[in-house]
Amino acid sequence: MSKVAVIRKAHFNSAHRLHNPEWSEEMNKKVFGKCNNPNYHGHNYDLEVKVIGEVDPLSGYVIDMKILKDLIEDHVLQRFDHKNLNLDTEEFRNLNPTAENIVLVIWNILRSRLEDQYDLHIRLYETERNFVEYPA
Ligand code: NI
Repeated sequence: MSKVAVIRKAHFNSAHRLHNPEWSEEMNKKVFGKCNNPNYHGHNYDLEVKVIGEVDPLSGYVIDMKILKDLIEDHVLQRFDHKNLNLDTEEFRNLNPTAENIVLVIWNILRSRLEDQYDLHIRLYETERNFVEYPA
């Protein structure tokens, strides 16, 4: 059997502040630069969700795109779009909302809602040029 990757793109806007409360103000500024701005700043995040699996001989699908689209909308976009990640979300109340941590959180949210037969890979663009992937 041949495995095929099905990829759905999504987009959300969120505000965040990168900050480690254990560090001094000076250290935070040094490590996080502008992203440590106390009054937050926004990003236009682009998300690519890749689901890999066997093609079902009956439907010809790996996964119904509608199901994947709804999963992303209901559990990722509803939660993070037009939100301040630090203030408005449970996930990042005590977790620094770096692209790395955001991709891990999104992967865990979707992994728990996808059947085990699928492999899941996620790519998150924080800017056009800066993006992260999980699993690495
Ligand atoms: Ni930032």
